Amino acid sequence: MHFYDILDEMFKDFEEYKDIHKGKGVRGTLITTISPKSNKLAAVVEAVHLASLLHDDVIDEATLRRGAPSINAKYGDFTAVMLGDIIYSRAFFELTSFNEKVAKTISNAVYLLSQGELDDVKLSCEMNLDKEKYMQMIYKKTASLIEASCKAAALEEGFDENDFGLYGKNIGIAFQIIDDLLDITQDEKTLGKPSMLDFKEGKMTLPYIYLYEELDELEREKLKSLYKKDLNETEKEWIKNKMNELGIVEKCYNEAKELVKNAKKAIQKYNIPKLEIIADKVVDRKF
Ligand code: IPE
Ligand code: MG
Ligand code: MG
Ligand code: MG
Repeated sequence: MHFYDILDEMFKDFEEYKDIHKGKGVRGTLITTISPKSNKLAAVVEAVHLASLLHDDVIDEATLRRGAPSINAKYGDFTAVMLGDIIYSRAFFELTSFNEKVAKTISNAVYLLSQGELDDVKLSCEMNLDKEKYMQMIYKKTASLIEASCKAAALEEGFDENDFGLYGKNIGIAFQIIDDLLDITQDEKTLGKPSMLDFKEGKMTLPYIYLYEELDELEREKLKSLYKKDLNETEKEWIKNKMNELGIVEKCYNEAKELVKNAKKAIQKYNIPKLEIIADKVVDRKF
């Protein structure tokens, strides 16, 4: 049974669940690629991820998710928060039937992910220009669960969890850098979620940190004046053009590619071609 079918079965009693669309399923696919028997574990991790997205869209005031109205947009924040809690609780309930090390690996990642989301909120109070703070935050909010997914699947197969953890951590960080880049370079239709939302929400993602570094004094003042504002098309274009002109888009891509290279190196000796393909797709994608 595919992990998404297991997920649908778990939450079929909840009316609002029917309005949730499928995602890329990166975490689930990683798990079943490393450990083909682990479709249940894959479903549990996809449930955790889904719950985190329900809460994330409330935090980010996002009205679109996976090409459809977000649960908060359709039913309000209360429903989105509680449906998120329901999905988290069910995931943890299911997790108790796994071996202790697997359960601890995943649950610890949820603890880190939640800290990362809180750090993200705190960092968005003012223009963060500190790359290190950004890197630590995206490790927690995004890479920790991907790292844990790979570790847990490796444990299920008796592989070295550290090799697979390193693979997951690297693609996880790359994944968020690309997510932050796509927010700027892609349109809403392609993304299936709002575009150019991060800056408005106060999120100084890597492209914005690098952009600020490269701008002259006058342009920095302009960027500051646009921070957290509802941008018009001209202002959006100005940001996008500057990002391209100053090579910021390319710089972020190259950084993500370097991480993917390290990820592949970590699991090279296991010779699982699909894991290399997944790693490449993290960077080479449009949404
Ligand atoms: C956080 O990142 C996603 C989670 C780890 C919950 P974003 O806020 O950038 O995610 P999107 O862009 O809304 O998917
Ligand atoms: Mg978001
Ligand atoms: Mg967010
Ligand atoms: Mg994003």
